[in-house]
Amino acid sequence: MSEAAYDLVVVGGGPGGYVAAIKAAQLGMKVACVEKRGSLGGTCLNVGCIPSKALLHSSHLYEEAVHGMGRHGIKIKDVELDLGAMLDNKDKVVKGLTQGIEFLFKKNKVDYVVGTGRIESPGKVVVQQSGDGGARELATRNILIATGSDVMPLPGVTIDEERIVSSTGALDLERVPEHLLVVGAGYIGLEMGTVWRRLGAKVTVVEFLDRITPGMDGEVAKEFQKILTKQGMSFRLGTKVTGVDGSGDRLQVTVEPAAGGAPETIACDTVLVAIGRRPYTEGLGLEKVGVRLDNRGRIEVDDHFATNVPGIYAIGDVIKGPMLAHKAEEEGSVCAERLAGQKPHIDYDIIPGVVYTAPEVASIGKTEEQLKEAGIAYKVGKFPFMANSRARSVGTTDGFVKILAEEKTDRVLGAHIIGPEAGVLIAEIGIAMEFGASSEDIARTCHAHPTLEEAVKEAAMAAAFGKPIHL
Ligand code: FAD
Ligand code: NAI
Repeated sequence: MSEAAYDLVVVGGGPGGYVAAIKAAQLGMKVACVEKRGSLGGTCLNVGCIPSKALLHSSHLYEEAVHGMGRHGIKIKDVELDLGAMLDNKDKVVKGLTQGIEFLFKKNKVDYVVGTGRIESPGKVVVQQSGDGGARELATRNILIATGSDVMPLPGVTIDEERIVSSTGALDLERVPEHLLVVGAGYIGLEMGTVWRRLGAKVTVVEFLDRITPGMDGEVAKEFQKILTKQGMSFRLGTKVTGVDGSGDRLQVTVEPAAGGAPETIACDTVLVAIGRRPYTEGLGLEKVGVRLDNRGRIEVDDHFATNVPGIYAIGDVIKGPMLAHKAEEEGSVCAERLAGQKPHIDYDIIPGVVYTAPEVASIGKTEEQLKEAGIAYKVGKFPFMANSRARSVGTTDGFVKILAEEKTDRVLGAHIIGPEAGVLIAEIGIAMEFGASSEDIARTCHAHPTLEEAVKEAAMAAAFGKPIHL
């Protein structure tokens, strides 16, 4: 039976979908959000950003307790890992935050419909409710698809989430593997590889390309690999995994040079497949309603998130652009505001990316490679954390800040940071870029002393004046 018409039905309750639902409700729309997982927050809160950051933090504390405290004059005897308690803590964090979204839905009067949504036609979403709830029809003026993404499979390798895992299984391993082989040196491989290395695993990362973190500024990526190697991670670059034999006690992974050559076998206990994610549109009924996908399976949208079918919109991981929670959230907000008649826009050049290892790696705007390719003349200002007094005080001196500014106008075009709190430091540059700041603007802004932020100011000085003070 048809229900009272909604202004907006959002399919998917991840960071894109739940933010769009709340924003639309705040702007006076009658909104429902359909989520099949049984818990709000999507990939990010349930099996992505949040549990991985909880484990990164816990494993960092463990590593500090084992190896890092001596230099501060603190002796800790008999440090012991209680993996079960560490995983329980992570689960508690996830539960608290996902329930928090349910509370926000109630507060903002968003109807939360638990079940799998399918678009029957423009204006009609059919929800197969979980359990024996049966089907329910939601009539609506607009539909927003925010169904996110899913793990990209590796041909010839079957993920069982026990010995051969995706990021989801890697968040819940029952014991620390002796040897973890990670396929893919991207965000997930390096973050989750770091977690298990800190907890005691030998970690080998196999990457198809001849570098790690493709897309990241090349100089930063090189430094990142050097630091990770120093921490104990091994890399096999320019190498591909062609199969995993799980018939024996240990997994036998066959690898061969990406460019072709003799195969070899690596024995390990756990394989983490982290070669990217793909848009998730299964069972949505897109073919029937005629919503167009691009050649990578992403829903095609215009600048206002409209698909080719009137009244149907899409945001987040399921459309083009970086697969990041904050990008999805931004799109959710802006899409709701546009439906309400407002005219905001997103500057896709100013979306930060952060890898939450120690040191963190953060970037925003253009890389040197992109500027060269576009033929834009630019200046580079660099400053190492080794010369920053706060980094020296706390003993986190690896890495540097690099600011790229246009040669002629001095306008900041990009920034790349590897170092302590890089994810926090990049925010100041994001705001500066939003306001069209020059590197001189940052250099002349008084930064508190002694802070890591002073490394940003000094890098800006290097770009604006050719020289920082403390180097
Ligand atoms: P999703 O979060 O994927 O949500 C989509 C939701 O739609 C899902 O809950 C799904 O169950 C639901 N759904 C799908 N189909 C239907 C249907 N037919 N009916 C009802 N519901 C449906 N990003 C960051 O910015 N920072 C990080 O630190 C970070 N860490 C990550 C760590 C890991 C291990 C992973 C895997 C990802 C991480 N990401 C991170 C990426 C981030 O999780 C995604 O970019 C973000 O979740 C995308 O949001 P979304 O709303 O588009 O989709
Ligand atoms: P990714 O795209 O970051 O990295 C995948 C890596 O695998 C690349 O280096 C690629 O060259 C390599 N690769 C591809 N095919 C391969 C093969 N057959 N053999 C060996 N290597 C291969 O993807 P990842 O790490 O799976 O993460 C997916 C997405 O999730 C990220 O792109 C990011 O958008 C998001 N994410 C964000 C995080 C953050 O913001 N901190 C953390 C984790 C995930």
